[in-house]
Amino acid sequence: MEFSYHNPTAIEFGQGKIAAISSLIAIDKKVLLVYGGGSIKKNGAYEQTVKALQNHTFFEFSGVEPNPSIETMNKALEIVKKEGIDFILAVGGGSVIDGCKYLAAAALYDGDAWDFLDGKAEVQAALPLGVVLTLAATGSESNNLTVVSKKETGEKRLYFSNHSYPQFAILDSSFMSTLSDRQLANGLVDAFVHTSEQYLTNVNTTLVNDGYAETLYRGLTKLAAKWDERSTPLWQENLMHIANQALNFQIGAGVVQDWSTHLIGHELTAFYGLDHARSLAVVQPHLLRIMMEEKGEKIAQMGKNVFGIENDNEAVIAKIESIYQSVGITTKLSDCKIDDKVIANVHSAFTSHGYTAIGENGTITLDTVAQILTDSMK
Ligand code: NZQ
Ligand code: ZN
Repeated sequence: MEFSYHNPTAIEFGQGKIAAISSLIAIDKKVLLVYGGGSIKKNGAYEQTVKALQNHTFFEFSGVEPNPSIETMNKALEIVKKEGIDFILAVGGGSVIDGCKYLAAAALYDGDAWDFLDGKAEVQAALPLGVVLTLAATGSESNNLTVVSKKETGEKRLYFSNHSYPQFAILDSSFMSTLSDRQLANGLVDAFVHTSEQYLTNVNTTLVNDGYAETLYRGLTKLAAKWDERSTPLWQENLMHIANQALNFQIGAGVVQDWSTHLIGHELTAFYGLDHARSLAVVQPHLLRIMMEEKGEKIAQMGKNVFGIENDNEAVIAKIESIYQSVGITTKLSDCKIDDKVIANVHSAFTSHGYTAIGENGTITLDTVAQILTDSMK
């Protein structure tokens, strides 16, 4: 067992915790408050953030879109430079947070910050970032991953940097009260797949990682079973907690991971605009069936320890599908608005990004990806 793990994000979890912002951000900082299309004005997050910042100098930037683009964030960059901003406060879901991670790094980079996305440069420094989370799904609020898109080329790409960890994240699930069923379901499925990308790989000996991942799976399975209670604070705060834990990379520390479902899903979003979680649900079950030989032992372990299913891996995958379907998310690409170029499109994007041998053992090739998409369209 060998790993390095350092997560510097301070979590403030619970109702009213947003007030802590006034002391978490030094009073001499010039803050840029960044948000999306305005949902934060309906659930109290905006009002409470502004109240917490009443003694700070702050500016605002709104309009960060779902699947944030660098074109939009570069407009925020102009404000950062013009006003001498030295603290970014992201209020929203994964898109606003990721857009702000890019912004914080771009602000201290002398060049086109897309360089971080296409691997031409590594982040060396970033402005400090704080987060008020309003949508439980990505885990971006306390991890080092950034996913942004470039409209000009239609690309959606990612990078990791330890400079991207937010300094703090406010997790107050009362801001989730305005989320639609679609967004709640998306959050549940995204967290389920995050757990899987770190768990459904090689058999390992790390009892802590496996045990905790199984706990997260059981929690998500319970939330899906209690879907009728999705508007209750209890349900929502548990989703917020689980989604956070599923992608702060603790369960991935020291274990082999496989982010293939995400890599394929990101292309489906880039080409066809599928919601992030929906792009995963149409890939993962088909990938698991095709990769059964390599992932079989872990699928069996999940079946036994999470669902109580023994010696029937197909039943485990069918159970995963039924969980997604039970919250209204399809596992078939044929149910989505795509066209007959989908395989060719993913193929060409994967080729240009160098994703020709992915998966925990490097055995998921372009042909495998084509087969996964074909199965999903049957
Ligand atoms: O823009 P606003 O008005 O805020 O509306 C948003 C948006 O339309 C809305 N929303 C957010 N909080 C709300 C709310 N509506 C009502 N009430 C609230 N409390 O929800 C819509 C979707 O928001 P978005 O931030 O896009 O969703 P999510 O958190 O699922 O983030 C998805 C993005 O994160 C990336 C995805 O690829 C996608 O770009 N990911 C980031 C990861 C990371 N950094 O660790 C990992 C993930 O795997 C993922 O790839
Ligand atoms: Zn995800």
